[in-house]
Amino acid sequence: QKGGYPHFMLKEIYEQPDALRNTITPRIVNSLPDFTEDGIDDDVLRNLENITVVACGTAMHAGIVGKAMIEKELRIPVNVEIASEFRYKEPLINEKTLVIVTSQSGETIDTLEALRLAKRCGSKVLSIVNVKGSTIARESDYVLYTHAGPEIAVASTKAYSVQMAAMYLIGCRIGYVKGIYSEDRAREFIRQLLDVIPVIEETLKQADEVKTVANYIKMAPDAFFIGRGLDYTLSLEGALKLKEISYVHAEAYAAGELKHGTIALITDNVPVIALATQESVYGKMISNIREVKARGAYVILVSMDEEYNDGDVCDKHISIPKQDGLFTVFSAAVILQLIAYYTSDAKGLDVDKPRNLAKSVTVE
Ligand code: BG6
Repeated sequence: QKGGYPHFMLKEIYEQPDALRNTITPRIVNSLPDFTEDGIDDDVLRNLENITVVACGTAMHAGIVGKAMIEKELRIPVNVEIASEFRYKEPLINEKTLVIVTSQSGETIDTLEALRLAKRCGSKVLSIVNVKGSTIARESDYVLYTHAGPEIAVASTKAYSVQMAAMYLIGCRIGYVKGIYSEDRAREFIRQLLDVIPVIEETLKQADEVKTVANYIKMAPDAFFIGRGLDYTLSLEGALKLKEISYVHAEAYAAGELKHGTIALITDNVPVIALATQESVYGKMISNIREVKARGAYVILVSMDEEYNDGDVCDKHISIPKQDGLFTVFSAAVILQLIAYYTSDAKGLDVDKPRNLAKSVTVE
């Protein structure tokens, strides 16, 4: 059942190229994103004025990545809400809002109640769901199924990647039908999104490198994940993954914000996983990394540089293939998943079934 892998989580990490292929390719017609088969009405995408994403946990983190991408590319405001908060508010949504509900299981009760509230507010609901025929899928106006296949490990990996891919496809289609994206730009976007698949295959070859880092992190009580822009949005998931399965306390921080807050916690040997894949802020990011390095941090740098040997910047460098910065979240996510996986495994923990955590939470 585990296909020769020691844990479902590792198997599912390695299934990501297939999961992405199965999710993306059926939605590409004539090199453009196309939701005809999914029955998603283009008018809804064309007429929306803003977007609210509602979800829990990892699915919510995929929404935060989607927000960064859509706001940057399309200049459409995207609000991301934690479902358990949203459902008890008077949300600022209306018929001009497209509510995107994201859920692997399609059964998370907070997310389902948030969906029901969104409908009562007059918004159209488009859900991104992995499990066919689940309650969230059935109650949504439109569904974009992700095709990750069953995810058994409690910690979500492949479902996260395909949720991000779904957000990217939706963003691209919105850009196209609204005329924000030219046909050429939409085609180029899709070409780059498809490129993510071989890039992840290449990234997976770094697993042994990541394993060495895990042997260090396993000894730490705390770790930090830092980044800017899309890298910061991904850091949130990196920190969650590590906490969920290795019980190493971790915090995600926008790199430039550290000095306004918790930099005092960066002392000798604190692991800092620094993501530096965003070209426009690369220089700033390297300066932030120097700041933590100067305070004694053990820095693991993830970047597109082929090599990075400067001991004033990092102790360990993990290279991901070169890509446009809009798409590096996919390969960098794989590195972060492997960091969490190998740390948990090195600590001898039950990787697939972490304590006190359920795969799907259907009670409040
Ligand atoms: C939590 C799971 O209970 O629910 C997380 O432990 C998951 O891994 C979250 O991200 C949301 O679940 P779903 O099924 O709605 O995506």
